[in-house]
Amino acid sequence: MSRKIFVTHQLPGERIHQLAELCDLNLWMGPGLLPPDALREELQDCQGLLCLLTDRINSDVLAQAPHLEFISSMSVGVDHIDLAAASERGIAVGNTPGVLVDTTADTAFALLLAAARRVSEADRFVRQGNWRQENAWAPDFFTGKDVSGATLGIVGLGAIGCAVARRARGFGMEVLGWSRSSREVEGVKGVSLDELLLRSDFVSVHTALTPETHHMIDAARIATMKPGAVLVNAARGGIVDEVALAAALVRGDLYAAGIDVFEREPIADDNPLLHLPNVVLTPHIGSATSHTRARMADLAVDNIIAALQGEAMPNCVNP
Ligand code: DGY
Repeated sequence: MSRKIFVTHQLPGERIHQLAELCDLNLWMGPGLLPPDALREELQDCQGLLCLLTDRINSDVLAQAPHLEFISSMSVGVDHIDLAAASERGIAVGNTPGVLVDTTADTAFALLLAAARRVSEADRFVRQGNWRQENAWAPDFFTGKDVSGATLGIVGLGAIGCAVARRARGFGMEVLGWSRSSREVEGVKGVSLDELLLRSDFVSVHTALTPETHHMIDAARIATMKPGAVLVNAARGGIVDEVALAAALVRGDLYAAGIDVFEREPIADDNPLLHLPNVVLTPHIGSATSHTRARMADLAVDNIIAALQGEAMPNCVNP
């Protein structure tokens, strides 16, 4: 009997068409994202699930999916899945690392440059018709912060953190790095997290969100950052305490921030970062190029195909 696989969104890439030949495939066609109730209903008789990071796969959802054997998420982060509950039920969970490394590092670096050089603020200034003869140019007009020669601290030296380090060296930055595993990376000076925050003109966050890293960059740690530093986060919103970050930016303790990920997505209307001119905000677009998204989708499908064939997923996070 053909096994049932549920896919929570239409996907780019090629491999999804092959999957249709191998199983009884059911695909959510929208409109919009799959509502949580519909997910529970669909999972009642499925063996496999291909989901996105917007699908909350908690222990309740898993408890109501008695036949579920494997999950593949089209993301590298798997904080939307209760891994402990999945492992307890013997459900293999796959992800899509590697293919999004350079694209996400580009996004982090774009945020860093935009925050340093006030790109969003300057763009709004021009569009709003404020650029006039009387302020056409002046020595202090939209002056920002130099990147070249500055020190970048990378929190988390996984593949994306290392790719950001390579970009930073190309821009003539000194690079400090911290990772939980004290990983040594060429061209990156390994330091403690305290030293990194104290010495860095720019701090870019690249750890996974886990119970241990939730609000790792909190008010106390932000208070130890170098005065006038810039914080970039293209990893996960929950790692940085957004309220504490906004307060530090308002006080002028930090110069600016570039943020792609938020504790609540889409961003809550009352998020204090929304009202600050010196924050560049993007809507979780770290891996958003057509090419990378197609590769992520293909990898997510490869995980499902392997599991359907009784093989180990190429990228399994709970082997
Ligand atoms: C991921 O894959 O976890 C990224 O956040 C997507 O951009």
